[in-house]
Amino acid sequence: MSKAPITVAVTGAAGQIGYSLLFRIASGALFGADQPVNLRLIERNDEKALSALNGVCMELDDCAFPLLNSITPTCELDVGFQGVNWAILVGSVPRGPGMERKDLLKINGGIFTGQGKAIEKNAAGDVRVLVVGNPCNTNCLIAMNNAKGVPADRWFAMTRLDENRAKSQLAAKAGVHHSTVSNLAIWGNHSATQYPDFFNAKIGGKAATDVISDHDWLKGEFISTVQQRGAAIIKARGLSSAASAANAACDTVHSLTRPTPEGDWTSVAVCSDGSYGIEKGLMFSFPIRTDGNKWEVVQGVPVNEFSQAKIKATETELREERDAVTELGLI
Ligand code: NAD
Ligand code: LMR
Repeated sequence: MSKAPITVAVTGAAGQIGYSLLFRIASGALFGADQPVNLRLIERNDEKALSALNGVCMELDDCAFPLLNSITPTCELDVGFQGVNWAILVGSVPRGPGMERKDLLKINGGIFTGQGKAIEKNAAGDVRVLVVGNPCNTNCLIAMNNAKGVPADRWFAMTRLDENRAKSQLAAKAGVHHSTVSNLAIWGNHSATQYPDFFNAKIGGKAATDVISDHDWLKGEFISTVQQRGAAIIKARGLSSAASAANAACDTVHSLTRPTPEGDWTSVAVCSDGSYGIEKGLMFSFPIRTDGNKWEVVQGVPVNEFSQAKIKATETELREERDAVTELGLI
């Protein structure tokens, strides 16, 4: 191995998403085919969880991945986040049927105070953090506010699954392959208020609104299908999405560590700098471009009256979540 390894912490490593994600990281899917990785796998201090984690480590061993340099299973946050360059925070309770993701705030919010503090204390100077555990925008807000020494531009919450879902729905409607869909911005919260912005999306380089003539479908069923896709999967599977969520986490890290293709963007929730009138400090999903290191919110994306109303609605929900966790004393 010629390159120095990248150290990646994954919380909830013995859970559903962890079971898909770890093997992708170890195989090189995130950082490339010549980039070794150290895995620091964090679970709850619970006999069953730690036994399951031990089993996952045995399976990782049994893959003999050429790029996997070391595995550290632990329930100690100071050990788990020691020297990490990337922290992927998955560990938390998923919702069940009939719940909204924000119903998890009280259950999961507390996890992210301790993890934020431990990241600030132990992680590498260049640490970047991706929060997947729900409600991911506000959990990320909690962690970030408990780690003031880590710059705000290092914190991300995952809306890439929503972007991928939206691309897939548009492609199916247009009868084309999903790889031809670009410029799909998810605005706001990873929740039922998110706004998958079809007005700016392109299909084969043309405006999606020119390719798909059924604008009632775009304004109605398309949006609600993407907003409700997580619930639909829970209903169908009896469990929340896992392989597609792990895949979206891989896509997110991959996109944030490589230059964004010319003319396109990707969606991820970041700490708002006030762009598009969104309240500063909220973790809000925007269209983003990056050179693989520094990222920026894409400016000048047209926002018409319809889009503006949707964007405001999801901002309002994020303010409410922020106020709720402030009241709980988590930030
Ligand atoms: P899961 O229940 O299968 O696994 C969660 C794991 O986290 C368990 O192994 C549990 O022991 C562990 N855990 C719980 N608290 C922990 C803590 N404090 N520290 C370390 N580990 C802890 O759940 P899952 O299906 O893997 O989903 C995990 C989370 O991801 C859920 O909150 C789910 O809603 C969310 N999710 C987000 C997206 C997204 O797009 N942002 C998509 C899918 C799922
Ligand atoms: C998803 O979008 O699939 C996840 O956030 C899980 C959920 O609760 O919907």
